[in-house]
Amino acid sequence: MRYILLNPGPVSLSDGVRKAAVKADLCHREPEYFSLQDRVRSGLLKVYGLDTGSWTSVLLGGSGTTALEAMLSSLLPREANLLVIENGVYGERISRIADIHGISFEAVRHEWTDAVDLARVEQALSAGLFTHVAAVHHETTSGRLNDVAALAELCERHGVELLLDAVSSFGAEGIPFESPALAACAATANKCLHGIPGLCFVVSRKAALENSVEPPRSLYLHLPLWADKQDQQGTPFTPSVNGVLALEQALEELSGQGGWQARHAHYSQLAGKVKRALAKKGVEPLLSPGESSCVLNAYRLPAGKSYDEIHDGLKHRGFVIYAGQGSLVAEMFRISTMGDISDYDMERLLAALHAVFSE
Ligand SMILES: Cc1ncc(COP(=O)(O)O)c(C=O)c1O
Repeated sequence: MRYILLNPGPVSLSDGVRKAAVKADLCHREPEYFSLQDRVRSGLLKVYGLDTGSWTSVLLGGSGTTALEAMLSSLLPREANLLVIENGVYGERISRIADIHGISFEAVRHEWTDAVDLARVEQALSAGLFTHVAAVHHETTSGRLNDVAALAELCERHGVELLLDAVSSFGAEGIPFESPALAACAATANKCLHGIPGLCFVVSRKAALENSVEPPRSLYLHLPLWADKQDQQGTPFTPSVNGVLALEQALEELSGQGGWQARHAHYSQLAGKVKRALAKKGVEPLLSPGESSCVLNAYRLPAGKSYDEIHDGLKHRGFVIYAGQGSLVAEMFRISTMGDISDYDMERLLAALHAVFSE
């Protein structure tokens, strides 16, 4: 059975991307791979119209966490003092990464369902002890879109750099690249960009890379090593060649469809249809209107229906949804409308939701 994936990545692929992934056998030490690598690196910058004089993109093999760990372990010099914003699993993961790499940090902690309290962040920054802030853009735990533009503005005022986990937002949400405080963001090919898993990347200011940690904290995760080799038509390790082939096609499709803004509008429309269909069945969103990303919405489990009943009923009809995480597992479920989802898939999904919630 062909499933439509409504989990937050990997996503359902377009036929074009699926075919592109296996369209050629390329040696990663040959010019044809390097020109592909160059095209994809510049394609990533084009998604947000970034100036190639100030910004660079670095491709890495691995999942989103690889990019995140590479960004944090490389771009925080030894003397850095990091303030981490936590309001979900992925914010807490940033703290774990900092801890593992011996990076000096403190966290502003929130409940997983809470918005970031900017007053508390401002209070923490006003002591002048922090050099960097790290935060999650779209906290996939709850579907909350954190206000990173406001955070960037705060960082700018306090003269600190901002590092963003944009794993589940890059390609579908606005990212405040115009803020001089934003130093870098980490993301992945297989979420809003609609590529395949196994390839991730960091978009960084060149200045932030130049100021990266020395000696390295890690061999594989040291971003300047990847960036330098890629700049010199090389690669330090065997890359995800098929992932890069697929991402080139995925980026072309994104651009052909109108770029991230059009994808944002499309996802919002699909998410709105699901929300309205569920509202008719008495299923309420976890967050208040305007707080969720366009990528994913979390819903409260209605009385008398377990997650397994909803999941299995939808899977039986060809759709894969996602459970809550950690302490939210008994309270909610999540539906993402990322990926290559056609109008026909959507009509079928609405019928499937109607059937499952009427059972
Ligand atoms: C916001 C965010 N950060 C990081 C990750 C980790 O990505 P991966 O599972 O690809 O390592 C995810 C995964 O869903 C995510 O949503």
